[in-house]
Amino acid sequence: MNVNYVPIRGNKTGFEFLDQRKLPLEEIYLPGNTLDDAFVAIKDMVVRGAPLIGFTAIAGLILDLNSKQYKNLDEFKQTCEYMKTARPTAVNLMYEIDMSYKAIAAHVIEKGTWEGTADLLMQKLIDSMKKLESDNMTMAKLAEKRLEAIYGDKKLNLMTLCNTGFLACGPMGTALGVISHMNAIGKVNHVYASETRPYMQGIRLTSWELMKENIKHEIVVEGAASHLMKSGKVDAVFIGADRIVSNGDTANKVGSSGLSIISNHYGVPFFVVAPFSSFDMSLDSGNQIEIEMRPEDEILFCKGVRLAPEGARAFNPSFDVTDHKLVTSIFCEKGEVHPVNRENMKTILGE
Ligand code: MRU
Repeated sequence: MNVNYVPIRGNKTGFEFLDQRKLPLEEIYLPGNTLDDAFVAIKDMVVRGAPLIGFTAIAGLILDLNSKQYKNLDEFKQTCEYMKTARPTAVNLMYEIDMSYKAIAAHVIEKGTWEGTADLLMQKLIDSMKKLESDNMTMAKLAEKRLEAIYGDKKLNLMTLCNTGFLACGPMGTALGVISHMNAIGKVNHVYASETRPYMQGIRLTSWELMKENIKHEIVVEGAASHLMKSGKVDAVFIGADRIVSNGDTANKVGSSGLSIISNHYGVPFFVVAPFSSFDMSLDSGNQIEIEMRPEDEILFCKGVRLAPEGARAFNPSFDVTDHKLVTSIFCEKGEVHPVNRENMKTILGE
């Protein structure tokens, strides 16, 4: 049993993670042979993107179950809780770990043995990644319908932020999956990929994916969004999500909230695309989402060269929360939330 996607490949005895910090200049795989290798890969953003973080956590648990003799479920629970601390904002991490714990607990309680637990999780990883592939296509088709309702047959100019493609998911992509699908059916005129400071997911990763798919695009700096929209160059914006709460407030890469405000000012539809594993219906509002703070050196330095004056400090929140009122629709495999409000969220997502 193996998984074999661009950002993650391997089996219960060892995985390899594409080092996304090095892209696009180098395509290097780092070995992931232990739970801690997976933990560090998530924390240091060797792998990143909400769904992929969740899948990498499962890989870590598989490696652990394959190499360690657990005595009881409490001990395994502790490992799961530790794994959840790798990054705080993307709820996919917590979701996949909770699902994994449940599956292992059911097996151990029913069979009275830890034998076969690594294989069980390996099968879960394979199934979950396959499912995301078809779910991403479901979301892309929902988005296609909505775009058709707004723009008819027009070939569209689309904008995106961060990286939400196969590098962030394994299979296909969420927001970038929509763009890729729209391009495949001949409905894309142009794509603007926002560079996404300071980790540069847009300039390094999204452009790399768009180049691979031959999708006509230009990279733009974050500050260009208002100019682009004011001059009518953007028909719709698509972003992904790290955590969407029960009223539709959405945590995503820092800059998303500003982009939604600019989009709304100029009347440009602003869409969120995310699988069910990115929803946290236990929270009432986006104010309750923990926003990850990253090291200030990510801003102060570029490729090891200090840009800021000696002694200058930086403030580096990795995410922000987009107000649900500024989101035109949320596309999930369970359906389209439109308009985005608590009631429609409940109807589509349940709970
Ligand atoms: O810090 P990152 O690169 O993990 O942040 C990624 C994002 O913000 C993505 O938009 C989000 O995880 C969705 S990926 C399908």
